[in-house]
Amino acid sequence: MLVTRLIERKRDGGRLEPAEWNALIRSYVAGDVPDYQMAAMLMAVYLQGLDRIETAALTDAMRRSGAQLSLGHLASARIDKHSTGGVGDKTSLILAPLIASLGVTVPMMSGRGLGHTGGTLDKLESIPGMRTDLTLAAAREQVERIGCVLIGQTTEVAPADRRMYPLRDATATIESVPLIASSIMSKKLAEDLTGLVLDIKRGAGSFLRDLDQSLDLAGAMVALGEAHGCEVVALLTAMDRPLGRAVGNALEVEEAIHALQGEGPPDLMAVTFALGAEMLQLGGVAADGDEARRQMERAISSGAASRKFQAIIEAQGGNPGVVDDPAVLPQAGACELFEAPRRGFVARVEPRPVGRALVALGGGRARPDDRLDPAVGFVITAKPGDWVERGEPVATIFARDESGVEAGRAALRGAIVIADEADHPLPLVSHRVTMDGVTRTAVDA
Ligand code: URA
Repeated sequence: MLVTRLIERKRDGGRLEPAEWNALIRSYVAGDVPDYQMAAMLMAVYLQGLDRIETAALTDAMRRSGAQLSLGHLASARIDKHSTGGVGDKTSLILAPLIASLGVTVPMMSGRGLGHTGGTLDKLESIPGMRTDLTLAAAREQVERIGCVLIGQTTEVAPADRRMYPLRDATATIESVPLIASSIMSKKLAEDLTGLVLDIKRGAGSFLRDLDQSLDLAGAMVALGEAHGCEVVALLTAMDRPLGRAVGNALEVEEAIHALQGEGPPDLMAVTFALGAEMLQLGGVAADGDEARRQMERAISSGAASRKFQAIIEAQGGNPGVVDDPAVLPQAGACELFEAPRRGFVARVEPRPVGRALVALGGGRARPDDRLDPAVGFVITAKPGDWVERGEPVATIFARDESGVEAGRAALRGAIVIADEADHPLPLVSHRVTMDGVTRTAVDA
């Protein structure tokens, strides 16, 4: 295989055959294709795109570049949920124990924070002692025992993606529908799932800001799942403001615990229940959305969902006491209320500046090997559409020290926009995408 010929063909708008994708990925993982050639190929894909057959072939080659969970012996359905990334999005922390407590197996493989978006693994690791770096054998044993595991992409899974992802980050080729679809699905399909629910973010805080691109991505991933015997349902959800109130690793764990105890903020619960209803229906334990919703509410009010979270934390070396007493989470050195600088409507709460400010406070990574401060972040109580008086508290800043508080204050001054008129936020859940096509569940104002 002459790699330059493949790059040349893709660069000029041609297509590669499945066997060529397979050979390219195999040679790349074996070290026979250098990063500079793969980077050139990624840029060619970014500019020319891939058709559905090529996307499926690339995904399959990436999936087969590593090991896979093998869970076919389990009697229950195996359902995961994955988000394309957002700010304040802690739905995975709630859904994994909630859905597992209802008899569906949830082998959840998550990622770390990326750019301005947070990552489930970073949030979980703010729980003292909690480990997410389990081997596939340990993950399998835990799934068999308690029906759920929360892990990262181990070194064994999709090594092609592990190497290509930083290359994409460094070559401005992240925002490509076929590359995002193959990256996510190569890992998800390695979990041996029977079904997958995707949360495709749209709006100013999402990676793909254009609605048509979000719908394209949803369609591509639904088709990839279908081609591999895994039913996929995708919901498009709002990321034009942070989800819930907390943004920051330990703060989001605390909010997720409150949600599991029936005290989650309404927007967070609406998105969580919408995704959860799809998981329960794919898992075959609820006939429709209403029944799924009743089951989830019962699991929360009976304490079953919180107890499952405790069991997962304990199994992964964490302190399960966090569920009864979130004060065991790391605490910020300095915290201060942020007050509305004027009276008016909260027009917008901009997610990107909030996410970037979290990184600046130390709660996210500017470089891959940065160490995180799990305690820092924001709790933003103001939501678009709220009326506020001048001087009314609208957020709390949690920082390491006074200079962090000052940086947080400056960020919130730009991110929380108060005006004479309210803007129209996006509907929390706007589209549902399946193999049958796209259904609008709410119309943009
Ligand atoms: N998450 C992934 O795992 N891959 C992408 O390309 C984007 C988000």
